[in-house]
Amino acid sequence: ARRHIIILPAGQSPGQKVVLITGCSSGIGLRIAVMLAKDEQKRYHVIATMRDLKRKDKLVEAAGDAYGKTLSLAVLDVCSDESVKQCIDGIKDRHVDILINNAGIGLVGPLESIPIEEMKKVFETNFFGVIRMIKEVMPDMKKRRGGHIIVVSSVMGLQGVVFNDVYAASKFAMEGFCESLAVQLLKFNVTLSMIEPGPVHTEFEAKMIQDVRQKEYPGADPDTIHYFKNVYLPSSVDIFEVLGQTPDDIARVSTVHCASSPRFRNMTNPWYTPIVALKYADETGGLSVHAFYHMLFNLGPLMHISMTAMKYLTCGCLRSRTISPT
Ligand SMILES: NC(=O)c1ccc[n+]([C@@H]2O[C@H](COP(=O)([O-])OP(=O)(O)OC[C@H]3O[C@@H](n4cnc5c(N)ncnc54)[C@H](OP(=O)(O)O)[C@@H]3O)[C@@H](O)[C@H]2O)c1
Repeated sequence: ARRHIIILPAGQSPGQKVVLITGCSSGIGLRIAVMLAKDEQKRYHVIATMRDLKRKDKLVEAAGDAYGKTLSLAVLDVCSDESVKQCIDGIKDRHVDILINNAGIGLVGPLESIPIEEMKKVFETNFFGVIRMIKEVMPDMKKRRGGHIIVVSSVMGLQGVVFNDVYAASKFAMEGFCESLAVQLLKFNVTLSMIEPGPVHTEFEAKMIQDVRQKEYPGADPDTIHYFKNVYLPSSVDIFEVLGQTPDDIARVSTVHCASSPRFRNMTNPWYTPIVALKYADETGGLSVHAFYHMLFNLGPLMHISMTAMKYLTCGCLRSRTISPT
């Protein structure tokens, strides 16, 4: 028997918006759920979902008193049609005011060593998972002429990053999908917006590092493995350390989003604005490809030194700089 339905909204008061969030067992989803559930004006009833309720403890602890009042839990696996439908069916009148598509998985490494099945899992979660959710709640939002859909994308949905080929592709796909759908939804007074974080310190980063340690990369040649492990990875770790934001930084942007009319695209980390601007500055695309090549292969050691210097000089204050969504 499926452990299911807990919903809804135990303590929902009139006027409160129902917010459904995917992937709340950790990281950004967890912090968005807690921040919205603890809203001082109690504007939201949060349905925090996760695919396995055994992983609920961190969320329940962080939610404190809000759990059972402004926060309910539900099972939801974005990769399963049945799970998505059961969850939405379990909500009173299937009414969701704000859907936050946060669940996602990463994939990094030399392309030659990644089985197609693993790549499909990334698209199944990051791309089709979001579409599955939107298809389930959108018709009702359109009927009601109101609603808000938020998608947690990534700066990698705007600018590809070496050795993140498939992950970036899944987020690019999402950007194209949302850009197209947003126009139609506007006609129905439904808002669609995207949040594009840079690096964020969550289990995402930890899973990537653990994964890299365990893997042997069969099928990739020694040079490629060398570039991946000894050139790309140290730079990536440096960048996470110096520029990485906290899940709370991203949650704050999302919270403001829920309360106001947001912009369509929202990068959270100002350090990535010039990087993304590079591609729009040169329509041939050559400028960004060569700039990234130069940065990684020619300036790698220099970048490490500058990043280390920045880390000590700024005492981490770079990490918490967040672009205001307003
Ligand atoms: N961290 C970063 O640097 C970063 C940067 C840019 C964008 N993002 C995006 O931010 C979002 C959240 O990531 P995070 O950094 O908070 O990572 P995280 O801590 O690993 O959280 C990801 C969440 O997604 C859930 N999830 C994975 N597959 C799922 C599925 N099939 N159904 C339902 N939930 C599923 C995970 O649940 P389980 O506990 O069951 O695995 C987990 O709760 C992702 O979309 C990611 O692409 C992250």
